[in-house]
Amino acid sequence: MKESGIYEALSKVKGIDSDKDVVSLEMIRNIKIVEDRVYFTVVLDSPNISIDKKEKLRKDCLGAIHETYPMAKVLVSFNVKSGGKRNDPRLFEKKGALEGVKNVIPVFSGKGGVGKSTVATNLALAIAAKGNVKVGLMDADIYGPSGHIMMGVRTERPHMRDVDGKAKIVPIMRYGIAMMSIGLLVDEEQAVVWRGPMVSSAIRQFTRDVDWGDLDYLIIDMPPGTGDIHLTIAQSVPVTGVVIVTTPQTVAVADARKGVTMFNQPGLKAPVLGIVENMSYFTPAELPENKYYIFGQGGGKKLADEFGLPFLGEIPLVKSIREGGDIGVPAMMGDDPITKAAFEAFSEKVIQQVEALNAEVSDSEIEAKL
Ligand SMILES: Nc1ncnc2c1ncn2[C@@H]1O[C@H](COP(=O)(O)OP(=O)(O)OP(=O)(O)O)[C@@H](O)[C@H]1O
Ligand SMILES: [Mg+2]
Repeated sequence: MKESGIYEALSKVKGIDSDKDVVSLEMIRNIKIVEDRVYFTVVLDSPNISIDKKEKLRKDCLGAIHETYPMAKVLVSFNVKSGGKRNDPRLFEKKGALEGVKNVIPVFSGKGGVGKSTVATNLALAIAAKGNVKVGLMDADIYGPSGHIMMGVRTERPHMRDVDGKAKIVPIMRYGIAMMSIGLLVDEEQAVVWRGPMVSSAIRQFTRDVDWGDLDYLIIDMPPGTGDIHLTIAQSVPVTGVVIVTTPQTVAVADARKGVTMFNQPGLKAPVLGIVENMSYFTPAELPENKYYIFGQGGGKKLADEFGLPFLGEIPLVKSIREGGDIGVPAMMGDDPITKAAFEAFSEKVIQQVEALNAEVSDSEIEAKL
């Protein structure tokens, strides 16, 4: 199989409600061919295209490729054009915030306790483990910070550094990544009495007064729900794409759905990179091949399909993940190969989606950003 052959096959597929084909509409991105498998992304203009239309397009693509390569295994993922977002005038307002950070990825869930902090922490570590990348982790949960505990830096206190005449907070380095949490700056009891405006200004400080330096990825561990902090982050930080965490339970899926809707609002319009399902199945340490789907199976994947979003993976429910979080040695730094493999596969998907999104940024958009 050749990339040119794939393009040629796909040039017979019509775009959605269009007489033009998907190749000349420039909807096909990131073709990857591995042995008999071919992966590519179809970029859509709008997040509001119905599942039926997407399904038809997916089938048309499959059919066209199978005419040329009957044995090919074809994997189509959909993504939504992010151009509008990056042209957004608010980007200028965001100028100065996180200037040296290439990709900002908030990890979000509608519901509390589904494992945002666990997922954010291990995502940051898994990306850093690939080598040659600088990664930061910002715990934006002002009311219930936990990042500093999970990363095992609870008792440390950050220094200040003078940057161009301004005193800036230096993130703590741990396991090769830069980390910052409100839990490192204030007493835990103090944080919970803050009110809305104070919280928003703390978040602004976090983005402006912390010397993150140059980073390839900044992962933001978001607080639960859809409140002030989320709006402040969406407004004051140039978000690359959001990762949504859910668990297989119906309530958690319903809450994640609220999140997808929230980030799709015209005012916020942060692209969603995809959905990851945490606590997907239980695997006992002594029977690592066994998977018990206690909360039901496939909720995250279904939600992703419903919104035409990429499904970023399943993270098992494993005792060592919780223990690792409690003692400050995250799963990625532990010695359980199964959980590590799950976080690695997930982080790989996240990187793929980020790259696909960044491929969407045209030169003029980059200029606008500079
Ligand atoms: N896959 C998993 N396997 C086992 N335990 C897990 C897993 N994911 C998270 N946990 C545990 O569940 C608890 C809640 O996880 P975590 O703090 O990451 O959730 P959260 O969504 O950040 O919560 P909050 O909404 O309070 O910020 C923690 O004790 C954590 O160690
Ligand atoms: Mg948390």
